[in-house]
Amino acid sequence: MNFKINPKSTSENYLKVIPVLSTEWKSLEENLGLSSQIPEALFSGKKDSKHILTLNQQLTLLIGLGEDPDVKTVENSFRRIISQHRKLTEKGILIQFSDQFSGSLIEAALVGLQLGEYHLGFYKKEQPESLQKLKVELISEGKGLKNAVERAEKIASAKMEAFRLVDLPPNKITPENLASWAKNSGKTYGFEVKIWDVKKAKSEGLEAFLAVGRGSAKDPRFIIMEYRGPKAKSHFGLVGKGVTFDTGGLNIKTQAMHHMKSDMGGAAAVLATMQLVADLKLPIDLTAIVPAVENAIDKDAYLPSEVIGSHAGLSIEVVDTDAEGRLILADGLSYLVKNYNPDQLIDLATLTGSAIGTFGYECAALFSNDGALSHGLQAAGEEVGEKSWPLPLWENYGKEMDSEIADIRNYHGKPFAGAITAAKFLQAFTHEHPAWAHLDIAGVAFGDSEFAKAKSGTAFGVSLLLRYFENQL
Ligand code: BES
Ligand code: ZN
Ligand code: ZN
Repeated sequence: MNFKINPKSTSENYLKVIPVLSTEWKSLEENLGLSSQIPEALFSGKKDSKHILTLNQQLTLLIGLGEDPDVKTVENSFRRIISQHRKLTEKGILIQFSDQFSGSLIEAALVGLQLGEYHLGFYKKEQPESLQKLKVELISEGKGLKNAVERAEKIASAKMEAFRLVDLPPNKITPENLASWAKNSGKTYGFEVKIWDVKKAKSEGLEAFLAVGRGSAKDPRFIIMEYRGPKAKSHFGLVGKGVTFDTGGLNIKTQAMHHMKSDMGGAAAVLATMQLVADLKLPIDLTAIVPAVENAIDKDAYLPSEVIGSHAGLSIEVVDTDAEGRLILADGLSYLVKNYNPDQLIDLATLTGSAIGTFGYECAALFSNDGALSHGLQAAGEEVGEKSWPLPLWENYGKEMDSEIADIRNYHGKPFAGAITAAKFLQAFTHEHPAWAHLDIAGVAFGDSEFAKAKSGTAFGVSLLLRYFENQL
């Protein structure tokens, strides 16, 4: 999109968009010379409402946002403009923000506008015309409009990458492909990328990671990314589950397997966040690891009851090959702590069906051994509409993972507390890092939305992590 800020004269053949807070509607109605012409039942600025009219010969779209809209409401309302009214915007859009709109709301609006262009028809012969040249004129009395535009472009681009990584099918998004994505992104945005193949992973002792990868024709890749920001005071570590497809392995899935292309939702969030942090040149250090594998079946596939090793040196009894995410994360977490020792460590993973059983599709399950980190993530998520809610890490849950034959087992074999016992398993591989958090995003990384007929990627984690990092500055 092509943004023009506070133009001297505005273009009359553009679609004019006026976002309206319900509290300011009455006075705005008067200012627009419409005093009481629009019945309240038709439009009053209510959340998710709209009204189209011709004002001084200009086609005008009123967007209701309610009383005190959050950033997600604003983002979605603007995304809807493009996804529903693409034809009307062809000549251009003129958006008029009142002084009630803070920089962060304008940013959300412009992110949403750009997300409106995203669609799932990647492999269709007919592609919609690109909106790259769509002209957008912005009018606002508030300051910081230029900054909001610049940030919104970067945020939208990172989010769309996260959408795409999840939505593309598993024959297009393979471990190798995620590795090249990281390499290219590192080159473009300025961070170091190391890729460990099977041989190197062996020599680094990533045995749990390699065990999961054994059953696939597609070789695994262990992706390490390092961004070093200007004048950084803190160092954050991220790990994202990168299972590019989860068949369950020999404990093969019998339900909804086709959704398991989304089992790299954690990886997508981490990769996109890496791009965004580097693009925005945030003054932090960030080291991120994405263990990327396909959990498939083959003569070499790991077997239920196998005992395997791990980077942390713990032996693991594999009770269930479908509990593969925790195995690759175990090596990712251990490797990150041992080699980089960040101040805070956060992992994101589509880890358990149990997280969905607990919270449905409303929020992620949050686990942490550090109160400030836990509250910080919860608060940041609340601010940007990517919610999470804490569950406990009590020691008795850890005992459930005791194995008779090995140091630990990957599944307790019981139909309860699945998300918590999985988190306890991960914790065993963090070398007692004092500030670790785990977000089980199984219910929120991929789902139904008003913007697509099929389930699709949500980029959950990208806005949350950005807000969390910025809140720490
Ligand atoms: N990738 C799944 C978890 C999942 C389920 C994500 C549904 C998104 C939607 C994970 O690898 C898995 O299979 N977990 C099992 C663990 C069990 C075998 C211990 C589960 O939750 O059923
Ligand atoms: Zn699984
Ligand atoms: Zn999985």
